[in-house]
Amino acid sequence: MDFYDVIRTRRSIRSYRSDPISEEVLNRVMDAARIAPSGSNRQPWKFIIVKDESLRQRLASICGGQNFIAEPPVAVVACGYDIHRNRGGYMGEMSILVDVSIAFTHLIQAARAEGLGTCWIGAFDNNQVKELLNIPENFYVVAVTPLGYPREEKFREPGERKNLEEIVSTDKF
Ligand SMILES: Cc1cc2nc3c(=O)[nH]c(=O)nc-3n(C[C@H](O)[C@H](O)[C@H](O)COP(=O)(O)O)c2cc1C
Repeated sequence: MDFYDVIRTRRSIRSYRSDPISEEVLNRVMDAARIAPSGSNRQPWKFIIVKDESLRQRLASICGGQNFIAEPPVAVVACGYDIHRNRGGYMGEMSILVDVSIAFTHLIQAARAEGLGTCWIGAFDNNQVKELLNIPENFYVVAVTPLGYPREEKFREPGERKNLEEIVSTDKF
């Protein structure tokens, strides 16, 4: 699939079939996250593939009761740790948000290329997710997504987006 088709037709999917995902496909999607760039190439991330049904149900409940998260056979939780390294003042400990979000975006786009749906979930309590999945103290949870085949072919052009003129300028703000 053409790269621009991938990014243009990716949508947040909120209804899934329970069909399994082959390990081969899952590995390709996770590998897309693995090869993402990161500050100083420190790769300060860990991705937890949640397959256990009761864990997925509890995860959905922690994520504001968004039950569709538990519909497909897999959810992915992305977390990262502060690399405690001065990178010329660049964002400080917030840089993990940048690094992990880049990798998570790779994952989401690879999923689209495989015909899998995702929905970036930001509504969760960091400590509750950490407790549920035994995530170490020094990690932050950055993002969660269900991963599975959409119930309907919902891939389509983006909905409302700002115009390029509104968000791009040349030379100065
Ligand atoms: C950081 C972030 C957090 C989000 N959190 C949620 C969420 O908790 N639940 C949800 O259904 N969608 C969530 N979304 C999906 C957005 O609503 C969605 O990306 C946006 O409306 C654009 O629609 P599209 O992804 O279909 O293009 C989140 C997206 C991002 C990037």
